[in-house]
Order: sequence, then C-alpha cells, then structure tokens
Amino acid sequence: MEKQVKNEQMEKLTSLCKRRGFIFQSSEIYGGLSSTWDYGPLGVELKRNVKNRWWQDIVISREDVVGMDAAILMHPKVWEASGHVANFHDPLIDCRNCKARFRADKGVFYFKCRQCDYNFQIDNGLISTAQDFRKYFNNDMSAADVEHYKGSNCPHCGGQQTVDLEKLLCPECGSGNLSEARQFNLMFKTHFGPSEDSTSEVYLRPETAQGIFVNFDNVINTSRMKMPFGIGQIGKAFRNEITTGNFIFRSREFEQMELEYFVKREESQKWYEYWVNERFNWYLKLGIRAENLRLRPHAQEELAHYAKACTDIEYKFPFGWSELEGVADRQTFDLDQHNQVSGKKMTYFETETSSHIVPAVVESSAGVDRTILTVLADAYWEDAEHDRVVLRLIPQLAPIKVAVLPLVNRDGMPEIAKAIFHDLKRFMAAFYDQGGSIGRRYRRQDEAGTPFGITIDSQTLEDGTVTLRDRDTLAQIRIAKDRIVKVLQEKIA
Ligand code: GAP
Repeated sequence: MEKQVKNEQMEKLTSLCKRRGFIFQSSEIYGGLSSTWDYGPLGVELKRNVKNRWWQDIVISREDVVGMDAAILMHPKVWEASGHVANFHDPLIDCRNCKARFRADKGVFYFKCRQCDYNFQIDNGLISTAQDFRKYFNNDMSAADVEHYKGSNCPHCGGQQTVDLEKLLCPECGSGNLSEARQFNLMFKTHFGPSEDSTSEVYLRPETAQGIFVNFDNVINTSRMKMPFGIGQIGKAFRNEITTGNFIFRSREFEQMELEYFVKREESQKWYEYWVNERFNWYLKLGIRAENLRLRPHAQEELAHYAKACTDIEYKFPFGWSELEGVADRQTFDLDQHNQVSGKKMTYFETETSSHIVPAVVESSAGVDRTILTVLADAYWEDAEHDRVVLRLIPQLAPIKVAVLPLVNRDGMPEIAKAIFHDLKRFMAAFYDQGGSIGRRYRRQDEAGTPFGITIDSQTLEDGTVTLRDRDTLAQIRIAKDRIVKVLQEKIA
C-alpha cells in the first residue's frame, strides 16, 4: 500500500524530474496547487510516447478494438447511472481539536485484545476496515502476521479472534475528539452555462470509461464491430482526492488509458484472464523489470458488488507495492445501468442466434501518470562506477532519442554537428548541445534518458565518421555520417 512517508528515492526522482524538465509543480510561482502537475519539455515527450505506445498496441495494431475520444463534461444522469453520485465517496473525519480533516483510514488506530488487554497502535494512515487492513499487511508482512490483528489472533496471548479496534486518534494532534466519518464525494462539480444553481451542476468526469459505455450503440452502429470487440480511450479524469501525494501517483487531475472489451457473458472469464495477461506483459515490454511487477487478484469481499473478478497490476514503487492498473470483469452492470436510466437500448445483435444480447465487459483501466512514475522509477539508476545518474528508458519511450555533440566548439565541428542534427530531426527527437565539457554534456543526457550520443571529433574531419555512444554500456563505435539515421532507426525499432 502507498504510504505518505518521506522517501529518499522519491525525493531524488522528483528532483531529477524538475531539474531536467520532466515534471513541475503546477502554478509553482504562486506557491503551487497541491496534487496537480505540469509536464515540461521532456515530460510531455515521455507522456506522448507512453500514450502512443498504448494506442498502438491496444487500438491500432488490433482488428478487434476501435478508439474514441469523449467529452470530459457529460450529462449528470451518466454519473447517477454509473453509481458515482451515490457511491464514489471517501469517509472523511474532522478533528474538533486541531481542525485537521483526514480520510478515515489515515488516523491513528489503537487495537486491544479482549482476552489479555494487550494493546498496540498503528498509525501513518494504514487501515480502517478489515479489507484495507489485510491489503496493507499482505504487502508488507507475511501472511501469518496478518492474522495477528483486528478481529483475529492476538499477537501477545494468541487468543483467537480477540483483537478489537479500541480508539481512533487524529494523525495531526493525537486528539480523540473527532467527528463521525462522513461521506465525501470525490467528483469535482462545476456549472454548465451562465446560471450557478443546482440545475446547472455538472461533473468533471472521474473516469473515462463512462464516455465509452454511453457511446456503445453509436460505436457498434458505425463501426460494425463483431463481438468480442473493444473500445479504447485515453483522456483526462478528475477526482477531488482527500489523500494525495507521492508525486504524480495520486493527483486530482490525471489521465487514464481505458479499454472496455465487450464479450459474451459466458466467455467473460476467458477474456478477463486474457487481458490480465496481456496488460501485465505490456509493462514488461515497456522495459519494467519483472521483479518489480506483480498481480494482486482481489479477494471476494473486496470486489464491487457488480464485479465478478478484478486483478490489480501492481508495481513496487519506492513507497511500496501499489496499484498501477486494474483489470476487471464488470459483467453487464454498466450497459444495464445506462439502459435502465436512459431507456435506450444497450444491446448487441447476435447474428448466430438472431437475438439482442447485453454483452459483459472486461475493463483494463491504466493511469498514464502512474505508468510514467513506474517507468521513471524503474529506469532510475545511480551508476556509482562512473559517477552518474542514468534514466535507463527504453529508446521508444525516451523523450530524446539522440544527442548530437561537437567535441569542441571550433575547427568546423559545430557546423558538421548542426547539419547532422537537422538531418536527424526529420526522423526522430534529437538534441544539439555544444556548451560545456563533453563529459558534462553526456551526463546531462544520461539523466534525461537519451539512449544515444553522436560526437563529432577531429577524426570526423578526416574520414567522415562519428562516434556513437551507448548510454547504458558506454560503448562507443565509429560509424559513417551518412549511416547515422539508418543505424539509429534500427536500434530504436
Ligand atoms: N474505470 C475504472 C477506474 O477508473 P480506478 O481503479 O479508479 O478504476 C484506474 O482507476 C486507474 O487510474 C488506476 O489504476 C490508476 O492508474 C489511475 N488513477 C486513479 N486515480 C488516480 C489518481 N488520483 N491519480 C493518478 N492516477 C489515478
């Protein structure tokens, strides 16, 4: 589970992102707007590369998936039908002593054994319900340890099912003078049109998925897809999160990459397993190390009432194992709901049986920003041997593919380098740098994750060859100037 602790690794990453122009705090000159982030020149390229890769792999390269792009503002009924108005809540507690406001699971919990009075405390926002409790300890403790707490065996006397939650205290001041938990809806509200009364209230969408469901009929009528088929979408989503933090992991404005895959009800299990597998492998293809990825199937009591199954793809972030993506078998819930509330048909005509059926849906819901954090955290490498920090991004994701550097700022080297740079720019993201020592220029590119460096030196003047430097191995080879584009294209592909 994600813990809001100061984390050296996260601080290094955040600082690199700022230093190199990946990610900045939003509205920084006004003191920043918490939990909103701006992507700088390198960040925007990395983000585009991640989204392009998803779009390519999930939409373009597949014959059974089409894409779409729905509006962020949708009819308020959408959110009634989807259940977000009634259920998209977090429990919020007010401290009457220091006025702090915190999510119920972020308090300080005191447990006590009914049998031997042994008591112990857990703080730092670890748990509130039995379900969250298990989730946290599954990540950080052995399965046996989990059984020691809450409604379970006492870690002291071994009493069976004897541990109770005794009191809850404010995480800020430690007071027990707290309000009851009240439900706080996470959707951002705004007003549509010039009047600001309740009839003009609309929401910023908290997920992209509903834009797909409400267009289900439009898409099947126009694209003539045959089941099983999917609709993919990438776009912004907004949640007024109570607990934010851990850099871009949980923010109030973020992007999702969602696929809704429509299948025959009796085949949903098969497709659910298929997509769990596909999506897990997708992260491996992004270069994420297998030991830092895992699948966490949800326990039965953790599932939303309509979901038949759900698996989180988790990454071992510097602050602990946390969700990167969710894959769920949502059955016919979404289409049924929209059918009921809108009165419009949400069915697929099955030619083999000549009947209209409501398909089940298997959803893959990934966060763009979380994928970026994953990619950056996994690529971050302190190369002590060569005294440098390197982002070992795969070339396809790297914001800059190649840096072109004249060894010195004279003897015609900058002119040759510029010509090569302009030639390369027609084919890939390239960067030209002639300022400072060559070592320092390489190090800047290593931190930016640039996989290749081209250096123009005195030998270039003699025989027209340049050095090609590999970021990770530091190996340098000489290649002819006119082969640079081809060699790099091959390496990047
Ligand atoms: N349609 C299903 C859905 O939205 P979710 O688990 O609430 O499911 C899916 O969100 C993904 O969206 C998460 O796995 C995460 O990657 C991303 N996400 C959700 N809330 C986020 C937030 N506040 N900040 C950044 N990413 C978030």
